[in-house]
Parts: sequence; C-alpha cells; structure tokens
Amino acid sequence: MTDLTSQKQTALDAIAKADTLDALEAVRLDALGKKGWVSLALKTLGGMSPEERSEAAPAIQAVRAEIADALDAKKGELESAALEAQLAAETIDLTLPAPESAKGSVHPVSQVMDELAEIFADLGFAVATGPEIEDDWHNFTALNMDESHPARAMHDTFYFPDAAPDGGQMLLRTHTSPVQIRSLKDQGAPIRIIAPGRVYRSDSDATHTPMFHQVEGLVIDKDIHLGHLKWTLETFFKAFFEREDITLRLRPSYFPFTEPSVEVDVGYSNEGDRRVVGGNGDDEGHDWMELGGSGMVNRRVLEFAGVDPDEYQGFAFGLGIDRIAMLKYGMNDLRAFFDGDPRWLSHYGFAAVDQPALSAGVGARA
Ligand code: PHE
Repeated sequence: MTDLTSQKQTALDAIAKADTLDALEAVRLDALGKKGWVSLALKTLGGMSPEERSEAAPAIQAVRAEIADALDAKKGELESAALEAQLAAETIDLTLPAPESAKGSVHPVSQVMDELAEIFADLGFAVATGPEIEDDWHNFTALNMDESHPARAMHDTFYFPDAAPDGGQMLLRTHTSPVQIRSLKDQGAPIRIIAPGRVYRSDSDATHTPMFHQVEGLVIDKDIHLGHLKWTLETFFKAFFEREDITLRLRPSYFPFTEPSVEVDVGYSNEGDRRVVGGNGDDEGHDWMELGGSGMVNRRVLEFAGVDPDEYQGFAFGLGIDRIAMLKYGMNDLRAFFDGDPRWLSHYGFAAVDQPALSAGVGARA
C-alpha cells in the first residue's frame, strides 16, 4: 500500500511537470497502460483472499481514478495552451496594403450557366444533372437510337474499353439529352428542368473542341405544344441577351428523340468583326445563326423513361452554351475558352461577387 501511495505521488508529480502532450502520454502509459504499474497492481487482486481483496481493490481503483483525473485535467490545460499559442502566432497584419486588383475570376461559361439557371428558375425550371461518364443505354438507346441507328456514328463518341455493369458500353456523354431520361425516370411527369453541363465528342478545329457545354431543356405535361417551345426559347433569349428584338427561326430538322424536330436559329448582324444578336435574319445586313436543336419529345423516349405518352407530352431543346457565351460576350475563338490563359481569363472573366440576378440585368459586369 505504501508502495502504491509513493508511486501515485511520483506519477502526479510527473503529470504536473509534463509540458507536452507526448510527455503526458508517457506518464499515462507508465501508470495506466496495459503493462503499467496500476494495471499490474489490479492483476494481483486475483491471487488475494476475499478479505484482502475487499480492502485492496477500492484502494487501487481510487489510485487509478486519481491519476486518470489528473491526466485529463492536464491534457485540457495543455490543449488550451496550444490553441492560445496558435492564435497568437497566426495573426493577420491588417496594415498590409490590399492587392491592386482582385485575383481570380469566374469563367464566362460558369457565368453563363449561372445566368441560365437564374432565367429559367424565373420560368419555373429546376436544374437537373447527370453523369458525364454515361452508359450507351441512357446516351443512345433510351433516346430512340438503338445499336444500329446511324445517328450513333454521327456523334464521334469516346468509348471506354470496359463494359458497363449491364453489359453495355460506357462512354463520355455526347450530349446532355441522357439527363432527360434520368430525370423522367427519377421524378416522372409533369416535369420542367434544365440540365447544363459538359459533353464530349472526338472533334477538334477552330469551332469544335473535344469537350464543350450544352444546356438541355425538358418540359413534359398534359397539353404542351410547339408554341410553348417557341415562347420559352424566345423569352429565354430576350432575358439572356437583354434585348427585345430577338427573332427566332424554327427550321424543320431531324433528331431521333424528337418528333417533329426543329433547329433553332437566331437573327444577327455583323458590327465590325463582332456578331450582334437581334433583328430578322432575312433583313438587309442580317443573317441567321444556329443555336441548337429541339422538338416535341418522341413517344418512344417517353416510353423508355416510363412515362405514358398517351397522357403526357412535351418539348425538349439542347443549346450550345459556349456558343451563346461567345455571342453575348464577344469572344471569337472557342479554343481560347479552355486554354486556361490567365490574360484571357482576367479579360473575359467575371468578379466572384458578381452574381447574375434578373433584377440587376443577368449579365451585369463589375
Ligand atoms: N441532343 C441534341 C444534340 O446534341 C440536341 C437536342 C436536344 C435536340 C433536345 C432536340 C432535343 O445535337
């Protein structure tokens, strides 16, 4: 017993003297660790007579508790001292001059995606997303392009060597249209979404990059018709380009997943080397530019997505985000978008605090 008392005093002294968490841990191990002297003392209880044990056990437990409490208290003390030291060391010198200009900027593509979300939210659209690594069922089959469909070959698809879990092929999505299928399967009809994001095609020249951005739109409800599509696109482009004289031309076209299908052109004029959106493309000094594809969603697509085409119908569209960004903000080389040149970024980029808002004009530049 006297032995225990003196050992306890030694340990308490060591705890009081410990000035680091490591030193404290060493004391803990020496006393309370598996082979520590308190643990060894507890083990001797087994060999004692019941009378001896009923006297020794509470004494040893008391020593154990006293040391554990002292360790805890010291640990708290050391930790708060460490925090104080860190706070004292990590001061910020507020007298240093601010940088001449803000560093970093929001890429025009990100800015335009935020503008899209803002404008379409006002029209009651939610933002949906899907994976960039897709399977061929969502990217093609469910969009009414079975294995033998010639449109598959037109997409210059990047395929992965390994098969999908269902045995199909994995690929980089070639358009945002698979999000139509995923959203309908998840939420069913009625639905009103846009899906902005990256898409990939093995294609590269002055106007094509292997990765580019699209925004998909999808509206499915009971009485939706082509007139709603035209109104929606016109209303969007007026808000996006911040001008009323937007003229759209819907040109008959073909997509396997829409019927009928139309391509969407917008009237523009040339001002110097810059294309300016507005006016009728057939007027003097004007022309039409294609911005994307659209149409009434094909019955087969609704069936693939688990929606009853006798009850529901609607429209879909797909627009090139990079292209409408170039038109709005006057860039003329698509490849520069993805070079990551800081000079280009600081010239065309947006301030992070400059959140697009309808009330401020969606394109407000700081
Ligand atoms: N997915 C088509 C493309 O990438 C565009 C589109 C979307 C057409 C929706 C019609 C409806 O070319």
